[in-house]
Amino acid sequence: MSLLIEEVPPAAAPIELLLLADPSEEKVRAYLPASRCFVALNEGAVAGVCVVQQQQAGVHELMNIAVAPEQQKAGVGTRLLQWVIERYQAAGAQVLEVGTGSFGYQLTFYQRHGFRVAAIDRDFFVTNYDEPIVEEGIRLRDMLRLRIEYTR
Ligand SMILES: CC(C)(COP(=O)(O)OP(=O)(O)OC[C@H]1O[C@@H](n2cnc3c(N)ncnc32)[C@H](O)[C@@H]1OP(=O)(O)O)[C@@H](O)C(=O)NCCC(=O)NCCS
Repeated sequence: MSLLIEEVPPAAAPIELLLLADPSEEKVRAYLPASRCFVALNEGAVAGVCVVQQQQAGVHELMNIAVAPEQQKAGVGTRLLQWVIERYQAAGAQVLEVGTGSFGYQLTFYQRHGFRVAAIDRDFFVTNYDEPIVEEGIRLRDMLRLRIEYTR
């Protein structure tokens, strides 16, 4: 796999990939313009994407990360997440946050990269989405707020 990660303008973000991580197109389109978008290109084709938004000085939130279904489980997501973590650390960030479901492989994916639970947003997925989100046969209700606090 020859993976190249580069920034693209938010307007060029691959929406269909972003919808894999967040089923609300309205929400995705709302946060995109004020965010930075990075894509992972495999042999020139978009294999993955992630979107990061600054929340306050030194605090950035990973709003979305997704890999094309046919390319998942091949290490693209790991490479992209590691790249973003290191890029923001190198740029002087203090905190990188992400919100995710309270169970499932995504949670371990983040924890393996050093994210730790900072808070629980109870009923986030019930309150903020019109349709129930079901993963592994379980309705997703609560969001875990995870963070990496960079130490220098
Ligand atoms: C989460 C995601 C970005 C990870 O990208 P990826 O390229 O598949 O990740 P990797 O191949 O680097 O694998 C990372 C780990 O996740 C696991 N994983 C990936 N997809 C999985 C799946 N569908 N089911 C179970 N485990 C999965 C891999 O087995 C691997 O675990 P390991 O380190 O123990 O081997 C990708 O699966 C995805 O786009 N999912 C849908 C969107 C989504 O849920 N985004 C996150 C929102 S919180």
